[in-house]
Amino acid sequence: MNDNASFLVLFLAPVKDFLADDKVSEILINGPNQIYIERGGRLEETAAHFTGEAQLKAAAVNIAKSVDRQLDEMHPDLDARLPDGSRVHATIPPVSRCGTIISIRKFKKEMLTIDKLEQFGSVPKEGAQILNAIVKLRKNTIVSGGTSSGKTSVLNALSGLIPEKDRILVLEDASELQLQQKHCVYFETRKPDKNGQGEFSIRDLVIASLRLRPDRLVIGEIRGGEALDLLQAMNTGHSGSMSTIHANSPLDALSRMETCAIMSGINFPLNAIRMQVASAINCVVHTMRLPDGARKIVEIAEVLPLEQGEYRIRPLMQWKTEAIGEDGCVSGRFILGEPPSFRSNAEIMHLELPEYK
Ligand SMILES: Nc1ncnc2c1ncn2[C@@H]1O[C@H](COP(=O)(O)OP(=O)(O)O)[C@@H](O)[C@H]1O
Ligand SMILES: [Mg+2]
Repeated sequence: MNDNASFLVLFLAPVKDFLADDKVSEILINGPNQIYIERGGRLEETAAHFTGEAQLKAAAVNIAKSVDRQLDEMHPDLDARLPDGSRVHATIPPVSRCGTIISIRKFKKEMLTIDKLEQFGSVPKEGAQILNAIVKLRKNTIVSGGTSSGKTSVLNALSGLIPEKDRILVLEDASELQLQQKHCVYFETRKPDKNGQGEFSIRDLVIASLRLRPDRLVIGEIRGGEALDLLQAMNTGHSGSMSTIHANSPLDALSRMETCAIMSGINFPLNAIRMQVASAINCVVHTMRLPDGARKIVEIAEVLPLEQGEYRIRPLMQWKTEAIGEDGCVSGRFILGEPPSFRSNAEIMHLELPEYK
């Protein structure tokens, strides 16, 4: 057991078994008497509990101390990364009303690859072929989906398709991605210190990274004004870049990119921003957590030019849910859409695509 693990166990003894269990991906502590875990994609309530609020709050405060941060009346929430890569978020009363809340997202030792996604039925062979062509042909790609739908996992899998010869810069808020290539340079944002100084945001990272000769930018998640910098990078020669965004559909992902670009404070006319979005982003890969907990790539779409100022996409592959059994199990199938506009380029590059009629 490494130092960090033993330190965690010390403060978080009631959940130590879940910390040690690789099948548990998340631990959600909602006050001393209610603890949920996510295991194999499903949430379950557990019988574990803390002796009381005092023990739980002490755990949260000690975790904060161990990463040199404060958790008290003036700073009632903590977002921290532990040395083993796990993310901890804690909130103390009165901000949280049912006692101290701690959520732990455990660091994944193994990230998914496209082959694994195929094995799990998250994407069919044809979908994997399309994704491979998208990455090899340097299409700028956004992975969209809801919370915990598998966006980061799919981004990691896509990054695995980038050729070894490319120099990849990885920019993240909290390091999660683990690329397989050798020539990867990783960056992480920094939060302001207790005096509000020293912040280094994703936006700062995007701007700085462009001076470091990237062939590809891989950005963990777009949440705000950095969207504009990424769009500009994508439009000015850094093709083949990729990121994720929280959205309900591929079209919604484009609207969300637009909203985030506006958050940068620029004063462009809306149509100009839309044109940037529609020309910078070539493909959207949409992920979903189905009602039975299975995560799938439910759509791969190509972004088409604007029509009368509106976004348009062409679905290349879609998941159709056909039935939900009494046991909650979802059944359905993947449907192949129209051939992509890059079909002939893929042929030139000897990249295999599905057989279209
Ligand atoms: N296709 C998949 N099959 C099984 N588990 C998956 C799949 N994709 C993601 N997961 C698991 O689901 C959890 C959330 O995935 P993540 O990629 O972090 O989602 P998001 O970035 O959308 O929040 C992780 O524990 C991850 O390992
Ligand atoms: Mg994520």
